[in-house]
Amino acid sequence: MKLALPLAVLLTHAATSVLGAFQLTSTSSAYTVDTDGGLVFSVSRTTGDILTLVYNSVDYQSKEGKWTHINSGLGTSTVTAATVGSDYIKITIVSAANPVTQYYVAKKGDSVIYMGTYITGEVSPGELRWLARLDKTNLPTSIRDPASDNTGGVAIEGSDVFLADGTTRCKFYSSDRFIDDLVHTVSGPGVYISLVMPGTAYETSSGGPFMRDINNQETSTQQEFTFYMNSGHLRTETWRMGLKGPYAAVFSSTGPASGTLDTSFFSGLDILGYVPQSGRGRVTGTASGVPSGFEAVIAWSNTENQYWTRASTSGSYTSPYMKPGTYTMKLYKQELLVATQTVTVTVGGSTTSNIASTEVVAASPVFRIGEFDGQPFEFKNGDKFLGMHPSDTRMSAWGGNYTVGVSTAADFPMALFAKTGGPATIKFMATSTAKRTLRIATTLSFKTGRPSVVINGAWTGADPGAPVLIDSRGVTRGGYRGYGESYEWDVPAGTLVVGENTLVVGVTGSGDAGFLSANYIVDAIELY
Ligand SMILES: *[C@@H]1O[C@H](CO)[C@@H](O)[C@H](O)[C@H]1NC(C)=O
Repeated sequence: MKLALPLAVLLTHAATSVLGAFQLTSTSSAYTVDTDGGLVFSVSRTTGDILTLVYNSVDYQSKEGKWTHINSGLGTSTVTAATVGSDYIKITIVSAANPVTQYYVAKKGDSVIYMGTYITGEVSPGELRWLARLDKTNLPTSIRDPASDNTGGVAIEGSDVFLADGTTRCKFYSSDRFIDDLVHTVSGPGVYISLVMPGTAYETSSGGPFMRDINNQETSTQQEFTFYMNSGHLRTETWRMGLKGPYAAVFSSTGPASGTLDTSFFSGLDILGYVPQSGRGRVTGTASGVPSGFEAVIAWSNTENQYWTRASTSGSYTSPYMKPGTYTMKLYKQELLVATQTVTVTVGGSTTSNIASTEVVAASPVFRIGEFDGQPFEFKNGDKFLGMHPSDTRMSAWGGNYTVGVSTAADFPMALFAKTGGPATIKFMATSTAKRTLRIATTLSFKTGRPSVVINGAWTGADPGAPVLIDSRGVTRGGYRGYGESYEWDVPAGTLVVGENTLVVGVTGSGDAGFLSANYIVDAIELY
């Protein structure tokens, strides 16, 4: 019996295909592509769903009845397949009900599915993702295990935050910033499946370089492995249309894929919306004024496209190859916006555009807590919230007592909530009663939460008013990037006393109970 089984398997394969040949075959229900790189996949001829993902003889596609596709499937589609030249096979899926054309491309000898997603409108329910439903049996290792593994979990918020084995879990805890997220990988013994978003793959996504979205949800039986091209998750920008990608699913037996992947052959495949390098231009120059210790990020956007790059330590930068047009160009100190200007990109051109930080830094503040850098990581629980719900028992108690000169930023809470955790109390010394300015910068507001401030129980800062509402949960799903509001109050002469003073920082806003009450995430606080 031990000898008979492999023989039977071999004969079955031999009957249906010549193993290892680059080819497209079809039945009445599916197209099957053998990449000649160890990968064989099949695509439904009626829906465009991927039905099998066989790599080195193992099918990694889940067999629970939900397939691999855009969103939860494009439904009835016109699916065509063609061999292009001797090295490429292209499958084109045009959805009947959705404004989507999906491409699957194989290149001879690669164990890769190259993809592009062309849209002319937003897809219901307001998000666009490629979702591979993979069988966990042979792919047990996910992204930041076990933070996005809800196996055995009980839902504690919405239907997407769970408590399992005493720790909190959520698919959003698998998120990475787009600028960092060139590759994410699920793996098992002898297999790595990576989603690769190389080059300008995010050019028609939304939200800029610091946008973060779901990369994986792990259940007891599946890895739900995703490239979110756009969504309503902490959305700060209008959705963009056109071609998303090229991006790719890369199969390997040796390790995660690299973030560099040549997709320039798309230029010969008649892909809607694809603009080759020859139809693009660049921007170069120097970014100045971002202090050392902070990353200088330059980003470009208009209604149709978005790009970004990092400046070198000397400040020099070169943009990716961008589509022609006029762009808003922004300079960030880490994630804090510090300069904005306009630049025009021409086909084949290289536009020089130097940019300088306009940030004004108080020379010798009475105190400053944290860094004005658009990030909350230095504060209490700032090292944990990307992968934990604020109720997680591994978190430190919310609220806080901070004594200037004694405490560190890690004593000050990274978020304040209207109805739980209490305020943050700051004790500081003053040598004069002169007028001052109090400044609090935030990275994200939930349910229009904004700071309330009281000094010495006697002076209350005016309510700055509700910031723009982002209708999406934030810190409870590990999110921190919103519009980034900054608030300032004139503190009148005579408010401070010579000696010890007390500032109580709370939240104005209501919202629901507990951690879903109005809240905001702290970037930095200073009195100058
Ligand atoms: C801050 O101090 C108050 C008053 O002593 C105390 O009730 C509260 O628990 C403290 N908060 C934290 C987070 O330590």
